[in-house]
Amino acid sequence: MPTIVFGGAFDPPHKEHVRALKCAVGTLGAGRVVVLPTYLPPHKSAGYLPFATRAELARLAFEGEVGAEVVVDCEEERRGKDNYAYVLLGEMKKRYGDIVYLIGGDSLRDIGTWRHPEKIFRECPVAVAPRKGAGDAAKLRRKALETYGGEVIMLDFEGDDVSSGRVKAELLMGLGCDAVPQKVMRYIESHGLFGEYREWMEKLRGMESEELLDHSASAVMRAVDLNSRHNLKQDFCKVFEAALLHDNAKERPSLDGLDVPEDSVGTPVLHQFLGAEKAKRDFGVTETDILDAIRYHTTAKPDMTVLEKLIYTADSTSYDREYDPIPQLRAATDADFERGFEEVLAYTYAKLKKKGGRVYPLTEEAVRYYLPQLAAE
Ligand SMILES: [Fe+2]
Ligand SMILES: [Fe+2]
Repeated sequence: MPTIVFGGAFDPPHKEHVRALKCAVGTLGAGRVVVLPTYLPPHKSAGYLPFATRAELARLAFEGEVGAEVVVDCEEERRGKDNYAYVLLGEMKKRYGDIVYLIGGDSLRDIGTWRHPEKIFRECPVAVAPRKGAGDAAKLRRKALETYGGEVIMLDFEGDDVSSGRVKAELLMGLGCDAVPQKVMRYIESHGLFGEYREWMEKLRGMESEELLDHSASAVMRAVDLNSRHNLKQDFCKVFEAALLHDNAKERPSLDGLDVPEDSVGTPVLHQFLGAEKAKRDFGVTETDILDAIRYHTTAKPDMTVLEKLIYTADSTSYDREYDPIPQLRAATDADFERGFEEVLAYTYAKLKKKGGRVYPLTEEAVRYYLPQLAAE
């Protein structure tokens, strides 16, 4: 009976992890599961639970739930660095014998960016749990086999669109989260985990209408989803903070002597400039990349950073917007981040033009920069 090796940050583990593992155990007739929590080096640790906590949460999530013995192996923490999958799998093989490596469909899609992917496929069979809407599973398998050889087992599984980032965002905002197994949730509650933004949430509840707060939360979920879907590698906390605070000044238009462009005063774009200043003053945000993502979320601008584009796009396609053509724009940004961003910009520009009146200069510049053809029309 093979042993399944399953790695992940488990920050926190969620029900889709449990489902995938259970499916793999059943399909492969595995007698044992080795769970390998990812070691995250200290500089990456902002916003992550400590290793020991994630290991404990993984144990709580999987033990007694997947139909096989569960071992949580802390090899990555012991090694501390150079935790490449191919090296770890060699070690696991020595330790546990006949192994199968279980990964998600997204990982198979991105495996070309891992260190020595060919060595992974040489080490052991790879089982894949595809995620819903993550592309054609059979095509991904064929491509992997052509490129690396070895054995690739596609599980008869369709993972729901749940990511740890999404779960984490819900927990941090104090929203109910039914994607977390009960035992994990009890541990989270009794240890007061994910309480870092409680004060911010209280403040926001005091300053934003229910509708605006709902929109801000939807923008957070959208931003976190896009970040993980397109593997944009943006720091979780930055994405979370920028999206959560992007409209903090929307219902607080008082200038309070803060430094905002004069030509924005009295216009709908004022709240982006004021929002950046008030995020600094009222929430203590100091990172300029977060502040800039807030500062340009309405107008856009030329030469935007990934974080700026992410917040701009997440705001325009947030889950609380259901009117035409947002669902189509959402689908476009789901399919391709850069093109989706440009489509959102084109749509917004067309809408402003149709309305008549002055388009804010930064938006004109953004259109000239990203959509020169459109600007020439
Ligand atoms: Fe806004
Ligand atoms: Fe917004």
